[in-house]
Amino acid sequence: MSRLRSVVCGGGAYLPERIMTNSDIAGLVETSDEWIVQRTGIRARHIAADGETTSMLAVRAAQAALADAGVSADEIDLIVVATSTPDYTFPATATQVQAELGITHGAAFDLQAVCSGFVFALATADKFLTSGSHRRALVIGAETFSRLLDWSDRTTCVLFGDGAGALVLEAQEISGGGAGDRGVLTTHLRSDGRHRNKLFVDGGPGSTRTVGHLRMEGREVFRHAVGMITDVIEDAFRATGFTAEDIDWFVPHQANKRIIDASAQKLGIAPEKVVITVDQHGNTSAASIPLALAAARADGRIKRGDLVLLEAMGGGFTWGSALVRW
Ligand code: ACO
Repeated sequence: MSRLRSVVCGGGAYLPERIMTNSDIAGLVETSDEWIVQRTGIRARHIAADGETTSMLAVRAAQAALADAGVSADEIDLIVVATSTPDYTFPATATQVQAELGITHGAAFDLQAVCSGFVFALATADKFLTSGSHRRALVIGAETFSRLLDWSDRTTCVLFGDGAGALVLEAQEISGGGAGDRGVLTTHLRSDGRHRNKLFVDGGPGSTRTVGHLRMEGREVFRHAVGMITDVIEDAFRATGFTAEDIDWFVPHQANKRIIDASAQKLGIAPEKVVITVDQHGNTSAASIPLALAAARADGRIKRGDLVLLEAMGGGFTWGSALVRW
């Protein structure tokens, strides 16, 4: 029996040049490298330059992904950009990426699920590709969260960074099961808007007519995160019959090393299978998973045929998982 699968053909990432260390932040607010590392695992983050927008980061990541996949821009007929920091309220960042890549056909749109954005975008693109309506997709997570931060609030400004990552997915007819079955094997998405006030931006065109700043009840987010993450991963295991032992690489959303460690431990995923980049990038929201994927591809960890588990949780709350055979 054969089936249409969204197969990953390549990936890429881009980080702004400027690196801001914990010591740099300690010059702005009352904090310390020791506090930040101990509570979050974060040591540094990249910050976009003045005038460097989310779409610019996204284009660089997309170009790297296309080169890695050996796919030309005109072969792409779907672009989904996950972002909460679009260049403009409209048009979508995705249409700006499309124009920069010289693509004039197909569809391009943004998707907003905050830190879960990349998993939501991947699931969305997968539905388009496996329905047969589109052939090749660029799925991008791109953020300039530094622009949403209140740089006088030490409880939030230490946590986030800027960056972008992308995957190229292609609809392919896959025959056979087991290890021969490749691509996006299952996705599971959840939301619960009752948690809106635990992590939100206090502005927007429809309310304050301003951009606003990120606000968070950190302890509350932490309290919910591990349960939500592990629930939705168990959904992925139930849907596919795989277990924690079958996973080659666990690539979680990079918010906080303590959340990642607690989730992996609860699921029984061995620490050496967990990809961590939060130390170097901070929380880059929708960009964090494709950035971590790019890092683990570049150093030779993730290889073709590997079973890769993705998960994310973020504002809304939203949360989701995806299981991908590379
Ligand atoms: N430097 C020094 N001290 C600080 C800082 C800081 N940057 N921030 C807070 N503190 C102080 C607080 O004021 C408080 O002091 P007090 O006891 O005198 O009142 C003390 O540290 C403890 O504060 P808590 O908020 O209880 O610290 P906690 O251990 O919960 O750590 C943190 C805070 C790191 C935000 C944690 O709650 C967390 O990681 N939550 C998850 C939030 C998250 O990751 N959000 C990202 C977006 S959501 C996502 O992507 C999943």
